[in-house]
Amino acid sequence: MAQAPATTTIRREFEERFAGSLAMHRRSRNVIPGGITHDGRHLKPFPPYVTRADGARKWDVDGHELLDYVVGHGALILGHNEPSVTAAVRAQLGNGTHYGAGHEGEVRWAEAIAGLIPSAERVKFTSSGTESTLLAVRLARAFTGRPTLLKFEGHFHGWNDYALKGEKPPFDDPTSPGIPAAVMGTVAVLPADDPAAVEARLAQGDVAAIIVEPSGGSWGTIPLGDGFLARLRALATAHGAVLIFDEVITGFRWSPGGAQAVVGVTPDLTTLAKIVAGGLPGGAVAGSAAVMKLLEFKDEPGWNATRKVRHPGTFNANPLSAAAGIACLARCAVPALQAGCDALAARLRAGMNATLARRGLPGYAWGESSAFHLTLGETCANRTDGDLRAPAGISAVALKKSGETPLMGQLHLGMMLAGVELFHGGGFLSAAHTEGDVDRTLGAFDEVLGRLEEEGAFETAATIEQAELERQRDESEQQEVERLAILRRLRGSLADLNDGGVEEFLRNKRAEVELENARYERWEKGGS
Ligand SMILES: Cc1ncc(COP(=O)(O)O)c(C=O)c1O
Repeated sequence: MAQAPATTTIRREFEERFAGSLAMHRRSRNVIPGGITHDGRHLKPFPPYVTRADGARKWDVDGHELLDYVVGHGALILGHNEPSVTAAVRAQLGNGTHYGAGHEGEVRWAEAIAGLIPSAERVKFTSSGTESTLLAVRLARAFTGRPTLLKFEGHFHGWNDYALKGEKPPFDDPTSPGIPAAVMGTVAVLPADDPAAVEARLAQGDVAAIIVEPSGGSWGTIPLGDGFLARLRALATAHGAVLIFDEVITGFRWSPGGAQAVVGVTPDLTTLAKIVAGGLPGGAVAGSAAVMKLLEFKDEPGWNATRKVRHPGTFNANPLSAAAGIACLARCAVPALQAGCDALAARLRAGMNATLARRGLPGYAWGESSAFHLTLGETCANRTDGDLRAPAGISAVALKKSGETPLMGQLHLGMMLAGVELFHGGGFLSAAHTEGDVDRTLGAFDEVLGRLEEEGAFETAATIEQAELERQRDESEQQEVERLAILRRLRGSLADLNDGGVEEFLRNKRAEVELENARYERWEKGGS
């Protein structure tokens, strides 16, 4: 989430006018680490605390009405409290919330998904997107008998141990606190849009699955080039790897059949969550019968004990989520829903670019479908005063960080003061948003840009960015010198031992070297 610098009039006004949220945040921090329950809600000086929501709006503890572009982290394509969804959930509440047994709702829910998503010959329910990607990777490994997951820089697949490597810059970082090195070693991260690199990695023969956000990383923050997904399909097939489209965001949003229906590329497995459960907790893996049959029990000797993929889960296909999901997917089946949301998002993206161009300020808005992304302080090569799908000439690292600069932090607070809540510097449109809402947002955007200009925020941001670049360069040069010194010393002692030919001693020494390396890497990251 975007972070605002310590002292600006915008920040001071936010602290004053959102005092109830500040009080709630202080109280929350005593029992909830950092006072937030999702890392993505981290916001300086503190996030808003909400009491109720309806349509495209929510209201915070201080009584502010906020036009909502978070819409349940993208889950609420129909907006808050859509009548058909709430009616279905209410009806289900009266019939019980957990049967500990199969029910017709789960069958109807799976049928609805199979009717929309091209890859969905079979469907298995989970409780979240993170569980969906975990299950899909397990299925792929079991299906191929291979260990490695191939993923792409900046692509987000939830927070399970296999999903986090390469998700945030620096993309080539081989570690993450709390995830064993052995696990990290089973995940390979490549830049997106480089089919030759994918082919070379697949040729090593150990890749079980390629997982990709078909929108490009972080719902299109880092857009993919045309044809990349089709190339991935061909390469996965040629090398016997399973292709997984992570459609947790794009599913039912990019089109009734998700991104795969738009690009005409069918993966082996699709991971779903968010919209699939109509805004309630839930997820699913939808895939080919050939792969999904690994989840079945069989009478074959040894199958259930050693070959079946295990997948329990107390809340899988929970009746409340099933009811919400069925009602929501009925609406998602009609393409006019997505077309309406897409048109609103295009209006917003174009309007933001036109506003920036009119004010002569650096920045751009981009995206596709009903998502939008925005950054300030830099300008892409193909900047326009209209809609933009993919910014040119900006690195994946810069795009991934684009919503989290200090300048974007100020914009975020300023927009909330003006009654609009963005999501990671962008957001999602829903069926509950209107053209009037978009135009009001553009008015607020113009007003906040004016305020940022008055405060000199654009000049300050440029200075801060330059200082940060210089600091990073000095730091990495110093680290490189220290790393080389350590490696030289270790290589020297290994070479001495090799000469002596003392095999066992050498093995032990190698283990020590690995430990030393791991310790060095921890030290490098600022740990102990
Ligand atoms: C593409 C993608 N995959 C997986 C996930 C994880 O889903 P969940 O938050 O339900 O675990 C997300 C969440 O935003 C996502 O955007």
